[in-house]
Amino acid sequence: MSNTFYVTTPIYYVNDLPHIGHAYTTVAADVLARFYRYAGREVFFLTGTDEHGQKVERAAEAAGETPIQLADRVVERFKTLWVKLNISNDDFIRTTQERHVKAASRFFETIQEHGDIYLGMYEDWYCTPCESFWTEQQLDNGKCPDCGRDVHKLQEESYFFRMSAYQQPLLDYLEANPAFVRPVSRYNELVSFVRGGLKDLSISRTTFSWGIPVPGNPKHVIYVWFDALLNYISALGYPDDMERFNHFWPANVHLIGKDILRFHAVYWPTFLMAAGLTPPRQVFAHGWWTIEGKKMSKSLRNVVDPYRLVDLYGVDPLRYFLLREVPFGQDGDYSDEAIIHRINSDLANDLGNLLNRSVGMLDKYFKGRLAEPTDLTDLEVGIRELTETTYRQIKSAFEEIAFHHVLSAIWRLISRLNKYIDETAPWTLFKDPDMHPRLMTVMATVFEGIRHISQMIYPFMPESAGKMRAQLHLPPITPPYSQLSKDYTWGQMRPDETITRGAPLFPRINA
Ligand code: MSP
Repeated sequence: MSNTFYVTTPIYYVNDLPHIGHAYTTVAADVLARFYRYAGREVFFLTGTDEHGQKVERAAEAAGETPIQLADRVVERFKTLWVKLNISNDDFIRTTQERHVKAASRFFETIQEHGDIYLGMYEDWYCTPCESFWTEQQLDNGKCPDCGRDVHKLQEESYFFRMSAYQQPLLDYLEANPAFVRPVSRYNELVSFVRGGLKDLSISRTTFSWGIPVPGNPKHVIYVWFDALLNYISALGYPDDMERFNHFWPANVHLIGKDILRFHAVYWPTFLMAAGLTPPRQVFAHGWWTIEGKKMSKSLRNVVDPYRLVDLYGVDPLRYFLLREVPFGQDGDYSDEAIIHRINSDLANDLGNLLNRSVGMLDKYFKGRLAEPTDLTDLEVGIRELTETTYRQIKSAFEEIAFHHVLSAIWRLISRLNKYIDETAPWTLFKDPDMHPRLMTVMATVFEGIRHISQMIYPFMPESAGKMRAQLHLPPITPPYSQLSKDYTWGQMRPDETITRGAPLFPRINA
């Protein structure tokens, strides 16, 4: 199997400021990227912005700007947010960049030369905010089935992609790759959608001009979804640098929200097939966040601003909350109470307290100095075994992209360590000098456990992992991760290491 790991987020529209939904996917992708880098894979993590199309053109008009001025302004809001959220993307693609425009034009031409693009007339119901055409049957009480807004009849000359020719190849691909779409329920939905028939797809527009011109017919601009999906390959250097492209392609996973599954799991693989390229390995559709039970919308004024959440709660607690609160793939609900509860119970009480009390005890009993453990009992062996089991669980939960399972496995180990301290009662051992070697064994076991926890939480909470490790006088986890196999092995805390107490990792939040 290839050692590379290519993960993407959707590219975000620049007509809107970043919100919690954007932060969600990007944090999830970052956690995968960090986990696989630490596991020794060569990771390429891509995010970016979707800057063409009528939606952006209209938003710019409303703001009294040109589309590129709007894009240049909003893209900074995304980039700054990713820095603030500690996102480790390897590249950031904008669809207005030369490299992308060139790749998209070449891709269009390639399919055209292959005979899968033709000029025709298109007429149907069109939803402008969604940039989607709908058939009469697809409308929901005469409204757009995606957003519920008004649609209007639109007729235009258009280039069509012969998607109908790819119905069977796509079904074959789906059958041969049962993990192509996750969660499983979405895979099943998708298979029945494709069985229902694929029509040719209109892939150009003449009613506005903010887009990539169709090669050889600049009256048309390329449909924004055709343009946008290509970001996943233009960022790899397609078509000029096919060596680099082939190194990372096919993508291991495109992380997306459930609303854009059809684009990624029907349009995208068929475009690729038409160009003679392999479809991505997996498309994972996560659920949507509601806000205190309500749909997030500008009109309800309940849009959750991730900048505000970072300022209020801190970057790691937010990253943790997003991936712990809701099973990845399901819908979830955001509320201030929910995040405060997670911070106080999981972070402050369980993890923060484990570190704090352990450092305090070592400080008091041995002036902060660790020594080799001696005479292990079943308890210590059990902790070591649980740590090893936890790594295995983490690995398989990551393969399923089940972040909540990764985290609950880590928290089982944290609880076990807290319980181990209660069971061994270091404060009692300390009273009897004959028991001091036993006390040192307990302390060494606890700190070895904490070292592993710092490694396990690292993809989710890189900053806190670093702070924990600083207290343990361990180096931060940074590339090139050459210590990997050693890090995962039990018994790496150096004897005679001095531990220094730091500020509490996760202060409690008073609601
Ligand atoms: N530009 C397209 C994607 C092109 S990818 C080739 C787009 N952009 S978007 O900015 O509108 O949406 C980006 C992502 O945000 C989508 O995956 C969408 O599911 C996600 N979310 C929007 N609102 C959301 C929530 N309330 N909750 C979770 N994710 C949400 O679509």
